[in-house]
Amino acid sequence: MTTPAAVIVDAAAYAQAVEDAVKASAAYYSGGTSVLDDDSYDRLVRGIAAWEAAHPDEVLPDSPTGKVAGGAVEGDVPHTVAMLSLDNVFSPEEFTAWTASVARRIGRDVARFSVEPKLDGLAIAARYTRGRLSQLITRGDGTAGEDVSHAIGTIEGLPGELAEPVTVEVRGEVLMTTAQFEHANEIRTAHGGQPFANPRNAAAGTLRAKERAYTVPMTFFGYGLLPLPDTESTLATRLAEFAHSDLMGQAVALGVNTTASTAVPGITADTAEEVLTRVKEIAALRAELPFGIDGIVVKADLAADQEAAGSGSRAPRWAIAYKLPAVEKITRLLEVEWNVGRTGIIAPRAVLEPVEIDGSTITYATLHNPADITRRDLRLGDHVMVHRAGDVIPRIEAPVAHLRTGEEQPIAFPEVCPRCGADIDSSEQRWRCVNGRNCHLVASLSYAAGRDQLDIEGLGHTRVVQLVEAGLVTDLADLFALTREQLLDLERMGETSTDNLLAALAKTKEQPLSRVLCALGIRGTGRSMSRRIARYFATMDNLRAADAETIQQVEGIGTEKAPSIVAELAELAPLIDKLVAAGVNMTEPGATPPTAADSEADTDAAADAQGAEAEGGPLAGMTVVVTGAMTGPLETLSRNQMNELVERAGGRSSSSVSKKTTLVVAGEGAGSKRAKAESLGVRIADPDEFAAMVADYLN
Ligand code: IVH
Repeated sequence: MTTPAAVIVDAAAYAQAVEDAVKASAAYYSGGTSVLDDDSYDRLVRGIAAWEAAHPDEVLPDSPTGKVAGGAVEGDVPHTVAMLSLDNVFSPEEFTAWTASVARRIGRDVARFSVEPKLDGLAIAARYTRGRLSQLITRGDGTAGEDVSHAIGTIEGLPGELAEPVTVEVRGEVLMTTAQFEHANEIRTAHGGQPFANPRNAAAGTLRAKERAYTVPMTFFGYGLLPLPDTESTLATRLAEFAHSDLMGQAVALGVNTTASTAVPGITADTAEEVLTRVKEIAALRAELPFGIDGIVVKADLAADQEAAGSGSRAPRWAIAYKLPAVEKITRLLEVEWNVGRTGIIAPRAVLEPVEIDGSTITYATLHNPADITRRDLRLGDHVMVHRAGDVIPRIEAPVAHLRTGEEQPIAFPEVCPRCGADIDSSEQRWRCVNGRNCHLVASLSYAAGRDQLDIEGLGHTRVVQLVEAGLVTDLADLFALTREQLLDLERMGETSTDNLLAALAKTKEQPLSRVLCALGIRGTGRSMSRRIARYFATMDNLRAADAETIQQVEGIGTEKAPSIVAELAELAPLIDKLVAAGVNMTEPGATPPTAADSEADTDAAADAQGAEAEGGPLAGMTVVVTGAMTGPLETLSRNQMNELVERAGGRSSSSVSKKTTLVVAGEGAGSKRAKAESLGVRIADPDEFAAMVADYLN
């Protein structure tokens, strides 16, 4: 969706808009922080362009529409070939119009396109002399840039030495991955600095900083390879004749990182339709990428087409940026709420001045824990950069420190549990009410009764509230001691509802161990982890007898999680005993308990042993991801039940698609996971095909 252009009403407003845009652009290219987020900047520039179209005689010389953006930064190293910017399109229609305009200009259709993500970082030129990285230059004003060679050695993907002793210039984008950004801000604030607002600013600031007491890593992705004056002539000729896709292959062969190493590799496409399909795929994968992209760059792939199309002073005519909606906006942090979850964890949540990002109004963002707030130096009233992509819960990237007015207030941390007033255990990063699961009993019981846990029919949230308020249940096990009389005494509980609930509770006692474990809500474990634990140990007794080292034999449990699971089980011991006494099943049907040999084996071998357990099913040896809405015979199955089905049929269920995935079951509305499977060439089945594969295992 294209956000509307800013409306400019008169010449004064136009002059002001140009001034604002020039300032923002200068800040953007010099690594400072702009008061405008990308979306607002684009809107402003489109407003300026619209006004200029209506008043061509009044165009100001420094308008951002007519020159190489970033002209404000001084630089003293001339570029051998200008580092141009890109024109933008925002919709399939605009893109198709662009392809038509290129075709008109060159007198034929573009033979082939190359399509790659538009990385959200800074352009850089890396000069290699006889294979050694000798100089790094920023884009600057496009004709000359700043020497930032001091950053050599801190940029992953830009090797100090190429695989061959050639003299070439590699162009590409320097950025920070999400993890690098978090790390950079942690180090920076620990050294008393202000946090960077987003990964792009962090990369810009880090690249230009000369004398820092610390180094923070960044990442490079190459998207251009060109000769330098000293390049050997046959190589220079070859480079000039290579298609863009060949140049990228060459860059990889030389040891340079490119998008080929990512989930969204550059590809070639023969038609505009194919390009648009790829645009959709990349857009669908965006939220999952470990680095920011703000669009897709489409280039005429062949050198001959590029040459025929030529370049303007600002941008080439043979390439275009297909911009994706902004995922970042600046808004204000109004308040921090502290909510108690079902395990007693007290989690902060940011209340924001409502802001629209990609069509949704965002009012809340996650804040992980109190230490996270301190580390990011967040204050009430701060302008904050909010990030929201896909279905992921919005997060605050950082405060925009230079917009502080001095009136921001520190964020008060709770001194007692905001729910029950008990003390807080703040010994770990995530704070917890000392009453643990009993603090928010309604939440923990509702969760336990839920469809993917014990699936207790007739025990919805309202009924749980009723039972807790009547003092009939103080923990999960009390549910199984409820009598007919007690239930009949409750309001709106007739004979039928009572008998149905009692029957449901009796049935619940037969649920497999995996679901009991999940219902207990052991911190750090979810549905699939509970199933893996149950399959590995087969009985609750085996699990309770296990030490941290043994628990680590379960796939996905590492040195950090294992001791916390042991501690949780110890905390839950009285409840588990009570559940056993109430007659709740504590075994996993079909699972065989581990042997002594398993516990000595390393994790890989143990994982194999777990895989072997279900050997013989139609999905044996397969890793299966389910996505989208199920239909046909699978229609009523929740995602959890689908995963259980996969595992019953001998497969391994997973929630993310990777090269290791064997099969993706894609139902209606499947989005990014289907796209990723397609791009990786992973087999895709629709719900009906899959139902036929596992027909014998459907209950
Ligand atoms: S090609 C002459 N490819 O986007 C062609 N640029 O808005 C110039 N960018 O200055 C660049 N990813 O910093 C190209 N795959 C990609 C890119 C990319 C990000 C940046 C680059 C450029 C800016 C233009």
